[in-house]
Amino acid sequence: MTDDHRPLLSVRDLQVRFPVTTDRGKGAVQAVAGIDFDVHRGQTVSLVGESGSGKSTVANALMHLVEPSAGTVLLDGEDITSVRGRELKALRRRIAMVFQDPFASLDPRQHVSRAVAEPLEVHGLGGDKEGRRRRVAELFELVGLSRRFLDRYPHELSGGQRQRVSIARALAGEPDLIILDEATASLDVSVQAQIMNLLNRLQGELGLTYLFIAHDLAVVEHMSDHVLVMYLGRLMEDGDVRDLFDAPAHPYTKALMASAPSADPVAERRRRTAPLEGEVPSPLDPPSGCVFRTRCPWAADECAETVPPPVPPPGPGPGSAAPARRGASREHLAACIRLPVVQAATRGASPAAETRAGPGRTAPWAGRSAGT
Ligand SMILES: Nc1ncnc2c1ncn2[C@@H]1O[C@H](COP(=O)(O)OP(=O)(O)OP(=O)(O)O)[C@@H](O)[C@H]1O
Ligand code: SF4
Ligand SMILES: [Mg+2]
Repeated sequence: MTDDHRPLLSVRDLQVRFPVTTDRGKGAVQAVAGIDFDVHRGQTVSLVGESGSGKSTVANALMHLVEPSAGTVLLDGEDITSVRGRELKALRRRIAMVFQDPFASLDPRQHVSRAVAEPLEVHGLGGDKEGRRRRVAELFELVGLSRRFLDRYPHELSGGQRQRVSIARALAGEPDLIILDEATASLDVSVQAQIMNLLNRLQGELGLTYLFIAHDLAVVEHMSDHVLVMYLGRLMEDGDVRDLFDAPAHPYTKALMASAPSADPVAERRRRTAPLEGEVPSPLDPPSGCVFRTRCPWAADECAETVPPPVPPPGPGPGSAAPARRGASREHLAACIRLPVVQAATRGASPAAETRAGPGRTAPWAGRSAGT
């Protein structure tokens, strides 16, 4: 029996460490330092953050392209944290991935139809050879590609057409979840818009669920239901897309938004916050306390000493008897111990509803449930 309230994907305390050797000896890059999130069926949840924040590592850990160092991942209630062999093969049907560079993920020596037929063969779908050929043609049609492209090579297609082939391949296994890692980043703006519209149409028609990874905030705002902001492997802010874009709470999110180019006057008002300066610190030697403190305009002495409590796992709040509802909005949360100070200093800079500050050091969350 399926549980409608149960998230499709549930990630708890996910950690990924890469052992590295440097001049100073052996160490570890903590690429993902313990994050929690849920993805409900039919939703698009986005991971956003600067380069090196750990977005792709989260995706790769879900696909077991890298192994999690700690944590738990449930897919439709089933523990997929340490699957191997046949279970891993089955998982790679249930979760499909679309990458940034479709050229790199397509074999230059094979017709693009082969790329789409391959998952059908691997997972025993589509019937015989003729059945698979028909299914590939259907998938091409679904992503807006004419059948005349079936027997072309990747170099004979445009970037947008190649990305449509990658999307058709991802759809071939009828996955539960599609991870899109910077899937529109290498495309021209107009083609990017076409691919985003295609993804949105497919989601509407097929009820798809996306984990959408991007650094472009405009794209994230357009695509997402829910947004997770990452910095140095940690979640800085977590909120439904309108809450987060209308009232960014965490200094990092504010600075990211202030750094994003935009012709939109609403976005310009957000620019009252100083844009991001300086470099992301090395994940081999992250700052003490709050990892954002070396670039945060509101950093104080306490930020070097106190690690902000991480954004807590989704779920019913303390004392709530109600289960998390399917696709339900959750709280808008930010991991910053000086949130009330930041909120007071930036009041008016956020164009829409303010995020209610939590009670400071003891429970420093911006808590604003959707609908309050
Ligand atoms: N195999 C690896 N060995 C060592 N360090 C790694 C490895 N893969 C990733 N890292 C490090 O982990 C951190 C997170 O990398 P990741 O690729 O997940 O970031 P990202 O947010 O996807 O960045 P981008 O926006 O550039 O794609 C970075 O510091 C990166 O250098
Ligand atoms: S905890 Fe301190 S350094 Fe970190 S974001 Fe908040 S104010 Fe800035
Ligand atoms: Mg990446």
